[in-house]
Amino acid sequence: MKTYHGGIIGYGGMGAAHHKSINQSQAFKYVAAFDTNEARRKTAIDNGLKAYASQEQMLASKDIDVILVAAPNNFHKDIAIAAMNAGKHVICEKPVALNSEELEEMLKAADENHVVFTVHQNRRLDKDYQIVCKAYQEGTLGELFRVESRAQGSRGIADTWRRRKDYGGGMLYDWGVHLVDQLLWMIPGSITSVYCEFQYLTQNEVDDNFRLTLNFDNGISALVEIGTQNFLMLPRWYVCGKKGTAQIDYWDCNGGIIQKRDVEIKWEDEIPNSIMGPSRTLQPRGEDTIRHLSLPQVNVDNTTFYNNLVDVLNGQSELFVKHEEIRRVMKVIDLAFESGRKKEIIKCRI
Ligand SMILES: NC(=O)c1ccc[n+]([C@@H]2O[C@H](COP(=O)([O-])OP(=O)(O)OC[C@H]3O[C@@H](n4cnc5c(N)ncnc54)[C@H](O)[C@@H]3O)[C@@H](O)[C@H]2O)c1
Repeated sequence: MKTYHGGIIGYGGMGAAHHKSINQSQAFKYVAAFDTNEARRKTAIDNGLKAYASQEQMLASKDIDVILVAAPNNFHKDIAIAAMNAGKHVICEKPVALNSEELEEMLKAADENHVVFTVHQNRRLDKDYQIVCKAYQEGTLGELFRVESRAQGSRGIADTWRRRKDYGGGMLYDWGVHLVDQLLWMIPGSITSVYCEFQYLTQNEVDDNFRLTLNFDNGISALVEIGTQNFLMLPRWYVCGKKGTAQIDYWDCNGGIIQKRDVEIKWEDEIPNSIMGPSRTLQPRGEDTIRHLSLPQVNVDNTTFYNNLVDVLNGQSELFVKHEEIRRVMKVIDLAFESGRKKEIIKCRI
């Protein structure tokens, strides 16, 4: 069995994470790195990699089959294209690029050089997300009409290039692409409108909070919200179907499902006056009309991404993260920025 050799461009937090913990495959091994920062090249050597003094030298090496692009976001396009023009296959970190125009240039380079090109959309393998997918696929909630996906913290945006606009900083690029990719991978149908509100609460340069609404042609309205000033957090997932509601509280995947039983509601003659005051409509249901269910069990396989890459390189599989899927996510990101700029709902068919 051939072992594919990888080289990492940008040996920072994520570059090192690919090397040390994400890549579990026997058929794929990282052997080298290049980073513009000398200290990071030294760390790569300490971690057992060969460090190249320049990107050009690394791309010229015959010993490297695949390049991982893990530099800051604004460099992705140029590094990926240079690598593909040197005949290397490419894994690009997310966000693949800063906009769809850049992405098209990258996909063209992949086609012209007949190399494999994919994006590390690793959060497709997150347990919380897999649970939501399973509940959806099993029909436990009935026909979905609302999906809310949130990731929140309270420390502001990390004090790195992530605060810089010219580096492609901001939370839509950083986390939005993950959560949008998850929704598009789960929900069938086309997106018919995009609306996004951005906030700049801790600085003025890049978005540190946003709320993105996507409406689908099947009637599902999806909300993606990222916050960095949330001292109390809303649930990671809140998913509503006509038969039930699921909630996942946080990354530890606690939560549950309430499903309705096929029992007629008895509407009172007198308006009930409970703790919530007088209301018929919003009184809680009787316990006899609902079921409390556990969230479905899932087995998450973190080796999926690299195992798939090897299978693709061996001509035995389609990509786990496909070009059309990458294009769709980028298009949504483009429209979200446009919506934020214009303060308008953008109609579309994506
Ligand atoms: N998929 C995920 O879950 C995930 C998680 C974190 C980061 N990321 C992505 O990984 C990429 C890197 O993020 P990070 O958190 O590791 O950032 P980081 O700042 O920790 O590391 C970036 C590294 O790139 C180096 N660098 C900068 N410009 C370079 C260039 N032109 N050529 C070579 N090296 C260069 C820097 O010196 C630094 O060591 C980003 O695109 C980010 O969005 C993905």
